[in-house]
Amino acid sequence: MKKIAVFASGSGSNFQAIIDAVRKGELEAAISLLVCDKPGAYCIERARTANIPTFVFNPKNYHSKADYEQEILRLLENEKVDFVILAGYMRLIGPTLLKEYQGRIVNIHPSLLPEFPGKDAIGQALAAKAKWSGVTIHYVDEGMDTGPIIAQERIRLEENETRESLQQKIHAIEHKLYPAILQVLLTKGEVISGKKACTY
Ligand code: GRF
Repeated sequence: MKKIAVFASGSGSNFQAIIDAVRKGELEAAISLLVCDKPGAYCIERARTANIPTFVFNPKNYHSKADYEQEILRLLENEKVDFVILAGYMRLIGPTLLKEYQGRIVNIHPSLLPEFPGKDAIGQALAAKAKWSGVTIHYVDEGMDTGPIIAQERIRLEENETRESLQQKIHAIEHKLYPAILQVLLTKGEVISGKKACTY
């Protein structure tokens, strides 16, 4: 069974969906570690409740990204973690982790990439009066939400769509799609051919 580490910075509702899917046997993986860069974030509480070891750090206590990523890498290698799963981790992954894990780091983003990358994708979609947005699961490279796409699901925006209503629709999709795609990825290997998206 593959071992995963989840990286999160916030509430961690996607982390919870992964924990629940593992518990139900719908996702055949072992969650070895939560990595969190925000002391006090609610995802830490979720890890404690589920008895998942955590590494919580404050980037300000390190000289550089390379320094804290080196520490994270040591933990990942000690635990023999196979895949890194980003779930609302609000930092770019640097060369230290990419060098060892590229092709084995996955992210979920609340838009139809390449549209609306970066921060506040929901606000960007609303400001652009987009008719469609959605969810993208993709491999992580050195760019901001630029890695090869694994899966996407679309959402139609209503005329009166609000940040709250869109957020809710996005989360509802994410909580099903992420565990389902991870199950395929972790048990059957690659779900991507070249740069072509595979839409579920
Ligand atoms: C999700 O919408 C995800 O797409 C984005 O950050 C959000 C995290 O939400 N990368 P949560 O912490 O899992 O509730």
